[in-house]
Amino acid sequence: MGHKHQAARKATVVLSDEQVATFREKGYVAIPQMAPPDEVASLRDIFDRLFDQKAGRAEGAQFDMVSHDEDGDVPSLPAIINPVNYAPELRHIQFRVNALAIARQLLGPTVTQAFEQAILKPAWQGAATPWHQDEAARTDPNFDYNQISFWMPLQEATVDNGCMHFIAGSHEGGILPHRSPGNDPKIPAIECAGGFNPDEATPCPMAEGCASVHHGRTLHYAGPNQTAIPRRAYILAFEVPPKPSSEKRDFYWNGAKQTAFIARQRRWRRSGGILIEIGRKAQMGVWRSPGRIVFEARRAFRALTKRR
Ligand code: NI
Repeated sequence: MGHKHQAARKATVVLSDEQVATFREKGYVAIPQMAPPDEVASLRDIFDRLFDQKAGRAEGAQFDMVSHDEDGDVPSLPAIINPVNYAPELRHIQFRVNALAIARQLLGPTVTQAFEQAILKPAWQGAATPWHQDEAARTDPNFDYNQISFWMPLQEATVDNGCMHFIAGSHEGGILPHRSPGNDPKIPAIECAGGFNPDEATPCPMAEGCASVHHGRTLHYAGPNQTAIPRRAYILAFEVPPKPSSEKRDFYWNGAKQTAFIARQRRWRRSGGILIEIGRKAQMGVWRSPGRIVFEARRAFRALTKRR
């Protein structure tokens, strides 16, 4: 039934040649009307519920990006990895259908969804998201990644409430060195350690229902929330199945992490969560893409044989 329902929705957005050219040149582009207003309103309610209920926290899927994230702490940048696992109604939304259609337009027919994320910047106290490149957060650097992320605010995004900022053209270079904020490996977020000029950033304010799409190498940042309204954002990430890379890279900033959420994730996996995880990947369609299956197998093998 679910699949029939999904098939009933058709993409309502197509990128123009000009928008595609902007994405290729700048590494990001803003897209109007990615989701209808009633959908955005219901997403706000779903997100508020998931964050209130601390959905996924015990599994290591909900955590604060910018603190030690101990139980009872008040988070200033809480995030949920794959919120669809805790709210199945997120499966059949127009935003997802439109994002997939545009992902195919930009990366070709082998594209699959990689992951998704819910982010909340609480009113007045929502912290800035440090400058970073998404690819720098990948746990295994020895693959060639070609990934894009759609970022949709669930209310208007302004400079005051923490809209996105991008460095145009930064996707053309490699991955710059990153670090944990304050060099504290207990903090989940990563920040770019330099090699770019934040003064060259372009703020990207957006109306409700709009989204931006950026490449995995495009440097980006979102400011703190200095308003009375919570700033929520929904991220859908897509990629071409990654292939082993001939270039040797070291994302040492990830290897050094000692975060509470990864400890919770390990505990949950060991106590049977791993089986739930395999089922969830099936629901995301991972096992329907041959390229994706090969990648998942290679990644699992590399993780098992890695010396720590
Ligand atoms: Ni990012």
